[in-house]
Amino acid sequence: MSEERLFSWHNRVVKRSVIALVALTIVSMLIGFIWLPPVHEDFTLEGLWAGICRAAGVPANWGSDNASQAGTSTSVVLEPAMARAGTNAEIGRGATLALNCTMCHGAQGMSRSDAPNLAGQYPEVVIKQLEDYRSGHRSSPIMEAIVNGLSDRDVRDLAAYYAYLPKARTAPTTYDETLPALIRVGDPLRNIAPCISCHGGVDQKLGAPWLEGMPKRYLVTQLKAFIAGTRHNDPGAQMRNMARAMTDAEIDEVATFYARKASNGEPGRAAP
Ligand code: HEC
Ligand code: HEC
Repeated sequence: MSEERLFSWHNRVVKRSVIALVALTIVSMLIGFIWLPPVHEDFTLEGLWAGICRAAGVPANWGSDNASQAGTSTSVVLEPAMARAGTNAEIGRGATLALNCTMCHGAQGMSRSDAPNLAGQYPEVVIKQLEDYRSGHRSSPIMEAIVNGLSDRDVRDLAAYYAYLPKARTAPTTYDETLPALIRVGDPLRNIAPCISCHGGVDQKLGAPWLEGMPKRYLVTQLKAFIAGTRHNDPGAQMRNMARAMTDAEIDEVATFYARKASNGEPGRAAP
């Protein structure tokens, strides 16, 4: 039998396998892009292209136009200018306004309860989160009520003040092997990037909060809220997708690590 005949379309085996392959591809696409995605309660049908991008873990919008994504998760457009250090006047005014926040977020932005620390938090994070509470993109009855009484200028001055306070503790700046694996190297097979490549330490992505020294219960609650979709203000669903790929044991491990205390039992202080 010549080689040509072996791979010819008229060869029945070849014909059947090609048909079987096409059918299998269509069935798996239907399952993967149409049937499975709506299982998540915060699923919104944005078309096949968005579905393919979500599955591959890449943004559906490669250009600068983020309008369609912003509609679903947040209305805040992060600008590098939001991350600038505040002036003395802004910090001073922010310090006065922050007297209304100490009850829960602590006198120096270090929470004594399960509310998040704000000391040293990146300014664009405080601005974005407060705006998200205001617009209802992130829900918390307490914070939604508080932010309603704040002007845009108040929000910016509060962010300047908290960014000026020393951070709870420093983050590891190397891929030290004593760090939990997800924090250090992530897990490429599950599309989890290393936490320290976004949350500070090795690198910080605009809008990713400083997590070092945060109360453990707060971190666990937020990760579980991303999984459930009750927190959905992360642009492009990046935290929701990573949290959903994590096991309960891993959530406990990373939260324990970020909440770790200095040897004196107090959250460690970063060098100024
Ligand atoms: C009665 C307690 C309380 C008061 C007062 C309060 N907060 Fe909060 N704040 C919370 C809690 C609880 C959360 C976490 C809510 C959630 O799960 O979304 C929070 C969350 C936040 C966040 C999000 C932090 C993050 O890491 O995502 C910011 C920013 C914030 N508060 C700023 C403020 C500012 C500024 C004030 C004062 C103007 C203030 N809060 C007053 C309890 C409070
Ligand atoms: C690709 C960048 C990126 C990576 C990698 C990443 N995050 Fe995030 N994470 C973000 C961004 C951005 C936000 C803020 C989302 C928003 O705008 O509300 C966030 C928010 C969070 C929050 C909520 C914090 C708060 O104060 O509101 C927690 C907790 C968190 N991430 C944990 C983790 C953990 C644990 C890992 C590693 C397993 C991780 N993240 C990896 C980008 C990232």
